[in-house]
Amino acid sequence: MIKIAIFASGGGSNLQALIDAQDVGLFKGKIALIFSNVPESGAMEKGENERIESVAIASKGYPGSREEYDAEVLRLCESKKIDLVCLAGYMRILTPVLIKPYLYKMMNIHPGLLPMFGGEGMYGHHVHEAVITAKENESGATVHFVTEGVDAGPIILQGNVKVQSNDTPETLAERVLKVEHQIYPEAVRLFCEGKIKVVDGRVRILN
Ligand code: GRF
Repeated sequence: MIKIAIFASGGGSNLQALIDAQDVGLFKGKIALIFSNVPESGAMEKGENERIESVAIASKGYPGSREEYDAEVLRLCESKKIDLVCLAGYMRILTPVLIKPYLYKMMNIHPGLLPMFGGEGMYGHHVHEAVITAKENESGATVHFVTEGVDAGPIILQGNVKVQSNDTPETLAERVLKVEHQIYPEAVRLFCEGKIKVVDGRVRILN
């Protein structure tokens, strides 16, 4: 059984989608840990309600370096024997301390069609604003592996939505979020079934 950790800083609607998917048996994995850098986040509350082990380490005011913080998080994941980390609105740039041991075992969901509209500063409403300003006809969401470049890791799955002429960043975000809730559990399913291979830095989905 693949042991999964979900990292979230905020409300955690993707976290909820993953919990729901687990509950209906979509993937052969177990959410064994919910982690947050924000102790008062909705994610912590959800985890506690669902009786999933939930741990927060406040990043605000943390006395050590980013690397020391990540080393602490890594120790936590290793102590729980976590096989897969899912970032679900985890608003913190990770250091290699955490990225390297979980290379191709850590996923992120991004509210846009990478490689466009990604990179540092391109998160949340910034993505949707940029898509609308660029007059794109399509947007969507991307699940990708986390590597050292921000939003630059191999793409696992994408889902598209049409951009309407009267879309605001809020209306677009709402439709993109629905796609996120579909493709993230699906990516986890593929991972748990051992169907994701990375060859030459690209994802191959096996049949
Ligand atoms: C999502 O839009 C996701 O793409 C981004 O952060 C947001 C998290 O939303 N990485 P939620 O907390 O899962 O509702």
